[in-house]
Amino acid sequence: MPPDPSTAWGLYVHVPWCRIRCPYCAFHVDVARDVPADAFVDKVLRLVERRRADFPGDPATVYLGGGTPSRLPEAALARLIRGLVAPSTVEVTVEANPEDVSAPWLDALLEAGLTRLSLGVQTLEAHHARRLGRAHTPAHARHAAEVVARSGLRSWSADLMFGLEGQTLDELEGDLDALLALGPPHASLYGLTIEPGTPYERAVARGAIRPADEDAWHAMYGRLVARLGQAGLRRYEVSNFARPGHESVHNAGYWSDRPYLGVGPSAHGYLPDGRRTVDVADTAAWLERDDPAEAPERPTPEQAAVDLVIAGLRGVDGISLDHLAARTGHVPAESGRRRLVQGGLLVEQDGRTRLTDDGFYVADAVVAALVDALVPLAPDPSGQ
Ligand SMILES: C[S@@+](CC[C@H](N)C(=O)[O-])C[C@H]1O[C@@H](n2cnc3c(N)ncnc32)[C@H](O)[C@@H]1O
Ligand code: SF4
Repeated sequence: MPPDPSTAWGLYVHVPWCRIRCPYCAFHVDVARDVPADAFVDKVLRLVERRRADFPGDPATVYLGGGTPSRLPEAALARLIRGLVAPSTVEVTVEANPEDVSAPWLDALLEAGLTRLSLGVQTLEAHHARRLGRAHTPAHARHAAEVVARSGLRSWSADLMFGLEGQTLDELEGDLDALLALGPPHASLYGLTIEPGTPYERAVARGAIRPADEDAWHAMYGRLVARLGQAGLRRYEVSNFARPGHESVHNAGYWSDRPYLGVGPSAHGYLPDGRRTVDVADTAAWLERDDPAEAPERPTPEQAAVDLVIAGLRGVDGISLDHLAARTGHVPAESGRRRLVQGGLLVEQDGRTRLTDDGFYVADAVVAALVDALVPLAPDPSGQ
């Protein structure tokens, strides 16, 4: 049964450790040979016990992301899952890197309560895998996908990146052929983003790396939407595609304004009363401090509206302006919306504002334009 949207909440755990730091990645990660797995699991379970008092009932979904959750030893990972899952939890996802996946490992996690695996394939071309600095080869990725497909998992997903340095449309086609041959019921396809502070950013600045330009990016995005659609994987968010019934319930919660409890170094949370939380982005300090959360902050109504538009518009169902108004007292001005509708980038129908097919290509720009158009519903009584 799908979770009750009025009370459902998700639980996100950030596991910070990775085998190596990929040069394009800006997530909070630590490269340590000895992972303090038991101390980490104990701390997560203790903090969840304390923090869940702010949430009703049990989590509808559990998501272990990173970093690389599969970097935790099997016993610690299974203990973590067991400690977090409740009988009413409908989805339990773990992000895994291909080199960590084996049949006995998956069996142990299935027994602990795992229902979904997100496999970080990224590319199935050996030279691109090397350029991305990945620890795995395409052969690892294929083997891992076969193991996952044969397991009793209810669902699984493969992450792939595109818009890579020097990547051609033919190479992308090759990756899509190989990906679809693995038969994932869900796929996440991310255009390479050059993130501030990463080795990739410095390499781009000195001209050593030239990521795909806008035209190439658009051609690749169009190709992959078409290919995945033909294979039965429908786009349900800018970067996410699934066969019917395999959409990620946890991620859909972010897009439909459901609260979530975040725990782990750098993890964000969203309390049912609208306040935002964040854990300190320093693994040693996180392990050391009794409560490693910064003080929860209540966003201003305008910031809450910005957050809702950013999170919601990228999903195929878009946003409800009534919901936005009720939650934040702000909506995008009619003139701003009209421009985007007339430009063929947005559609307003059945009380929802959604991206059109063309709008999906420039989702970030449409989101930015809608955010710029936000206005308070009624004049501020203070006159300011
Ligand atoms: C933070 S990773 C965690 C999962 C796992 N460690 C991995 O690397 O597969 C989650 C996803 O973010 C994506 N990602 C990370 N950095 C990115 C970037 N600079 N541009 C596009 N996608 C990125 C990758 O596709 C990756 O699968
Ligand atoms: S992309 Fe994944 S494996 Fe690579 S550093 Fe980031 S979180 Fe770790």
